[in-house]
This record gives sequence, structure tokens and C-alpha cells, in this order.
Amino acid sequence: MRIALAGAIFFAGVFCAQAAEESAYGPAELNPVQAEGRQLFSQSCGVCHTKPLITAPLFGPQLSKLTVEGQLEAQAKTQIANGSPNMPGFKYNYTAAQIDAVVEYLKLLPPPPPPPARPAPAGAPAQTAR
Ligand code: HEC
Repeated sequence: MRIALAGAIFFAGVFCAQAAEESAYGPAELNPVQAEGRQLFSQSCGVCHTKPLITAPLFGPQLSKLTVEGQLEAQAKTQIANGSPNMPGFKYNYTAAQIDAVVEYLKLLPPPPPPPARPAPAGAPAQTAR
């Protein structure tokens, strides 16, 4: 009986983990390249580029299709390969094809919603839209 209960709890946990991964890492139906990209992204990038908890801070910028649109695509690939002072480079871990796969996956991610407007502090002059 106890074992059956433990099993049920375990499977419930697995199920929840899958559901959570789907929402955090994009749509469920991907072609093989996008699926590889999603796996690499969740392994190597999610720690800085996704929010693990609603209350946890995000270290890197939130990545989406906007990050890799048009001319930004080449720039993003260079950043992923070489890194920056705040981000490790992946050219020794990943082949060019794997970096391409991550970028193909990023193209599926919807742009983040705009941050909520903050009310001006009391007594501050009214802010005009920039
Ligand atoms: C240690 C944390 C960390 C990890 C791991 C990391 N990044 Fe970053 N990334 C950052 C930070 C911080 C920035 C903000 C720009 C900067 O400071 O270089 C960034 C910027 C970027 C940018 C440029 C975004 C823009 O708007 O210009 C891309 C693209 C990117 N990361 C992709 C990735 C990918 C893909 C991976 C995984 C293969 C990854 N990053 C792993 C921290 C990280």
C-alpha cells in the first residue's frame, strides 16, 4: 500500500514536471532540430534565461523570437558562441549546428509581455511617455 502511494506521488511529480517544462520551454510539437534546440536550451541556457519561479529574479534577458529576428540572428549566434563578460560562450561545447538548433528553438518563443506600468511615486512630476 505504501509503495503504491509512493508510486502515485512519484508519477504525479513526473507529470507535473513535464507540464511545467512545456509552459516554460515553449510549445510541445517541435521538429527534430527545434526539439534538439529546446533540450540544449533547457540544459545550458534556462538557468540564466528563464525564470524558475515567479518570485525568482532573471539573470539574463528573456529570450524570444525578437532576440533572433533578422539581423539579430547572426549577432545572437556570435554571442552564444563567444559569450560575454556575463555569459559563458558555447563554441567549445556545441557545434555550429547545435547553436543553430538553439536559435531555431528561440524563434518559437513568443515575445515577453511588456512590464507593468509603475505608478509614479507620490509627489513626482507626471511622466510623459518616451
Ligand atoms: C551564466 C548565465 C548565462 C547563461 C548560462 C547563458 N546566458 Fe545568455 N546572456 C546572459 C546575460 C547576463 C546576457 C545579457 C547580455 C550580456 O551581459 O552579455 C545574455 C545575453 C544573451 C543573448 C543576447 C540577448 C540580447 O538581447 O542581446 C543571447 C542571444 C543569449 N544570451 C543566448 C544564450 C543561449 C542560447 C544560452 C545557452 C546556450 C545562454 N545564453 C546561456 C547570461 C547567460
